[in-house]
This record gives sequence, C-alpha cells and structure tokens, in this order.
Amino acid sequence: MTRRSVTRTYPIDRIRAEFPILGTTMRGKPLVYLDNGATSLKPQVVIDAELDYLTRISASIHRGVYQLSEEATVKFDEARASVRQFINAGDDGEVVFTKGATESSNIVAFGWGRKFLKAGDEIVTTELEHHANLIPWQQVAAATGAKLRFVPLDPAGRVSPESVQSAVTERTRLVAITGMSNVTGYMPPLRETAEIAHRNGAVIVVDGPQLVSHHPVDVQSLGCDFLTFSAHKMCGPTGVGALYGRRDLLEAMDPLLYGGDMIVRVGKESATFKGVPDKFETGTPNISGVLGFGAAVNYLRSIGMEAIADHERELLAYAARRVGEVPGVTLYGPMAERGVAAGGVDPGGILSFNLGEIHPHDVGAVLDGEGVAVRTGFHCAQPMMQFLGVPGTVRASFYLYNTLEDIDRLVNALHKTLEVFS
Ligand SMILES: Cc1ncc(COP(=O)(O)O)c(C=O)c1O
Repeated sequence: MTRRSVTRTYPIDRIRAEFPILGTTMRGKPLVYLDNGATSLKPQVVIDAELDYLTRISASIHRGVYQLSEEATVKFDEARASVRQFINAGDDGEVVFTKGATESSNIVAFGWGRKFLKAGDEIVTTELEHHANLIPWQQVAAATGAKLRFVPLDPAGRVSPESVQSAVTERTRLVAITGMSNVTGYMPPLRETAEIAHRNGAVIVVDGPQLVSHHPVDVQSLGCDFLTFSAHKMCGPTGVGALYGRRDLLEAMDPLLYGGDMIVRVGKESATFKGVPDKFETGTPNISGVLGFGAAVNYLRSIGMEAIADHERELLAYAARRVGEVPGVTLYGPMAERGVAAGGVDPGGILSFNLGEIHPHDVGAVLDGEGVAVRTGFHCAQPMMQFLGVPGTVRASFYLYNTLEDIDRLVNALHKTLEVFS
C-alpha cells in the first residue's frame, strides 16, 4: 500500500495526472481539494471535449442543414446516449438535459406536481434534503394545497423502511428524497423507499447529484420514477445536468419553459409540441456543456463507478478515524458512530464535523491558508442543520482523485487551526 492510494490496483497516480488543476497550488501550497460535494475538478478529456466544440464546431444543433450543425447534433445525441447508459435508463427519450439538478427538480415540481397534485394530497420528504429538493415542493404545496410530511430521522440522521412507511399514507402522491445527503454522505434505502411509494400509488423523485457522481446507479433496478443530477459534480462542466424520468410520466407532464425547438407547429393562437425529451429542451442548449457532460460520464465509466465508490469508502474510513482523533472534533451523521454505519448502508465520501467552538468559517479560513479547500456553512440544507442543532459544519468531501496524503494535510491543518485559536 502506498500513501497515495488505498488499494493497490486503483490507478490513483494516472487519475491524478488527468486533472491538470491538481498540479497547481492554492495560497502557495499544493492544492488539496476536498470540496467535491460542491463541485468536482475536471479531467483533461472533459476540457478537450468542450474546447473541441468551441474551437472546431461552434454551430447550433437540430436546425442547421450544414456539416458543422450536423456534427454538433450527432455529438449532442451521443452525449445523451452516454448519460442514458450511465444510469441505465430504458431509452434516450427518458434523459432530459437541463441546467442542473436544481432545474431538474423544478421541472418535476412544476410539470408534474403543479399539474397533478391537489388539496389533501401529500408529498413525503425528509429533513436531509438539499434546498433544491425541498423548496420546489414547498412551492407546489403552497400552490396546490397539498401537504408536506417528513419521514422521521434517527439520531444519526438516517431513515429506515419503517420510518418511510410511517410517513407514507394512501394520500401520498409523491416521495421526494435524496439519494445521498450532501451534508453527511448518508444514503437512504432507495429501493425499499421506491417500493413503499409504489405500493401506495405514489411516484418517487430521487435527488441524485451526490449519489450519481459517486456510486453506480441503475434507475431501473432502483425503481425510481425521476432522478435529478448535475454534470459539474461528476467531472463535467457547470450549468448542465439531467433529469431522468419514466417515459409515461414525462409524456404526461407540462414543460417548465416554452419557445423554439420544442414545437411541431405554431399558429397565431396556439402551438403543438414535440415528444420527450425535446419538449423540455426549448431554446439553444449549453452544447459545449452537454458534450463535456458526455465526456465526463464516459471518463467515469472507464474507471468504473464501483472502483470509485470503493476508493472513497476507504478514504472516508481513514478520514473519520484521523479527523475524529483531533481534539475537540465532533463528527455528524453515520460516521459519528465510530465510522461504522448502522443499518448496513455505508455513507458516501463526505465527512461533516465541527472543531470545538470554532466557527466553521474560521476553520475553513485557516485550512485555505494551508492549501486545503473544504466547504463550510449550512450546505444549502438548513432543515438538516436544525436537525443537527448547529448553524453549520465543516465538510470534507472526497472524490476519485483524493489520497490519504490529502487527509493527512487536512488533519495537520486542523491542528494548525487549534493552535491559531488556542
Ligand atoms: C444533494 C444535492 N441536491 C441538489 C443540488 C443542486 O445541484 P445544482 O446546484 O447543480 O443544481 C446539490 C448541489 O449541491 C446537492 O448536493
């Protein structure tokens, strides 16, 4: 075992060499990037895919009859096929390109929720949610008279099939749940939750940006009806993402936006629209971003999502032990239980903690000075902070290119923080 790689076979040196930014410094120190929960770094293949489009193609998709436009269209369609394969969706029409997970959630909330929910219906969700998978549902509830119900969490912030069952009733029309908490890395039992939702006649929306970027996901075997995710958290560009939706559900929904490219025929008073996914993709899309997204999922597949998840699992276990030994540290979520996730589900590669009474932003500032990038604050999850009883946390989140040395640097920087604030 080397210090860099946890497992002997995992090609950590090759992977690190593929991310140009990892050869740079921050505050004069070699960069340790542990803010992957916010966004990931980009490998050269993704940068090249975007650059190739921008320098050599540049044309819009669908509408041009000339060679460059045709090439852009072919590549755009190939990217959709790559994303479909990545999550094992049944057909390309079930993959809608969006601006990201936030837009994907809003498309479901407004296109399905506002259309089909009514007073007396119930939306079941959790306090684990990122605001992107909560506020759209609050808005739907306010507009339709539907009620929000919350699945009770255990003290470590987990749900169980029993707790999901306790919140789901015959009035439940929709369950909106995270695939992996962006605060604690906790992964709810999705398959069981989907079964409970379906048994009660409800659909399930999985908020997937953290899950999809770090773990193998098969939408068909998970049984989810909708899945939202963002390219930028999975080695791709910002401003692009996807919504997976079951074809029949997407077909029944109204688009969020209307305009060019989505139409079949337009008269002065009315218009008819294309089928899925086109009716959700009006306007000129982020073409370079979509091509980068396609390159990103192909890159992740070439390494293997199982291998990435295993690597992160080992980094997390090491980090929980080493960070947990720093005097005054409080860990949150499943890793607070001495690194052992009860309930048989390992958390994903995220460690949330506080260092004594030191404000998370102050911890983050000292870490920054040491070249270590982490996220501090409430992580767009204020109900989760209320559940944990803290205003914020320090969050170290890992990805395929992180190493044991990165964690050692984090731990050294935490000791330095203690010195600064002693
Ligand atoms: C769990 C989760 N859901 C949704 C989002 C929103 O993603 P985006 O900002 O890319 O739309 C995030 C981003 O932090 C997230 O972590």
